[in-house]
Amino acid sequence: MEKMRKMVGRSGCEVGLLVLCHLLLATQVISKKHGNPANEIVDLINENRTAVKLPPLNNSPGIGCMALQFVEACMGNCTANNTLHCSPSEDDLTEIFAPNCGIELPTFGSITGRILGCHHKHLNPSEAFSQVIASDKTGVTLLKNRTNTDVGVGLMSSHKGMSYWCVLFSSDKANSTFLLEDRGVGIKQKTGCFSGSSISCNDGQRNRNAGMHLFSMICTMAITCLLMR
Ligand SMILES: *[C@@H]1O[C@H](CO)[C@@H](O)[C@H](O)[C@H]1NC(C)=O
Ligand SMILES: *[C@@H]1O[C@H](CO)[C@@H](O)[C@H](O)[C@H]1NC(C)=O
Ligand SMILES: *[C@@H]1O[C@H](CO)[C@@H](O)[C@H](O)[C@H]1NC(C)=O
Ligand SMILES: *[C@@H]1O[C@H](CO)[C@@H](O)[C@H](O)[C@H]1NC(C)=O
Ligand SMILES: *[C@@H]1O[C@H](CO)[C@@H](O)[C@H](O)[C@H]1NC(C)=O
Repeated sequence: MEKMRKMVGRSGCEVGLLVLCHLLLATQVISKKHGNPANEIVDLINENRTAVKLPPLNNSPGIGCMALQFVEACMGNCTANNTLHCSPSEDDLTEIFAPNCGIELPTFGSITGRILGCHHKHLNPSEAFSQVIASDKTGVTLLKNRTNTDVGVGLMSSHKGMSYWCVLFSSDKANSTFLLEDRGVGIKQKTGCFSGSSISCNDGQRNRNAGMHLFSMICTMAITCLLMR
């Protein structure tokens, strides 16, 4: 009798752990279903342009990847009042950013404008657009520049919850520069999001997922230990 109660108690615990594990895995799957907020920002930029009869900009994955490289270089430089002090050197663009993205060097074009910003809170794409990207005259002027043809957006959140955005513009012949080797297949996006990428992502999602994986692992280990007792 005593033995039996012990067994029931034990399997109850196992069932509980299994349910917990499934819930964790389900959350993980749901969080992966998010789209790409960097593409949403490109859409907002283009809506803003077409509303004033300007042609939309091409969403360039190569420029988007460069923008994400800017963001990575600027991590940690966000001030308490949400201003970003960051100016990577021109050499970094060709020597670090482009190779990291797998940009075919002969197609390296010119960046004709950039918007860099950060915020100590997580912002959704439309908040980021109005509060960071198009929040001042400089940003709005760049968005509405008729000469620009291509755009790319990169974004990422830090462990501390700071979010960073970068928008890069180019006025080269549309779609002809910043081409990714193997059409971008070789790029393994480890963290953050960039526009034009077919990979669905979530800013800072990797951190959450890493946490999830750890949880799942602990779960599995706990069950294994229980079963082996
Ligand atoms: C374009 O962006 C500016 C700046 O945020 C905003 O004031 C304006 O309403 C936007 N226009 C459209 C059509 O979205
Ligand atoms: C934000 O803080 C920086 C110093 O960290 C200061 O130079 C700048 O003037 C501040 N900007 C605003 C708008 O308060
Ligand atoms: C970040 O800030 C530090 C300290 O102000 C500065 O030395 C560094 O150059 C900045 N990083 C970039 C990429 O501008
Ligand atoms: C638009 O961008 C070009 C460079 O691409 C620049 O020369 C020009 O001054 C900009 N126009 C405005 C109105 O800012
Ligand atoms: C650039 O590429 C995009 C995506 O492939 C395409 O939709 C767009 O029409 C192209 N633009 C030009 C001017 O070739």
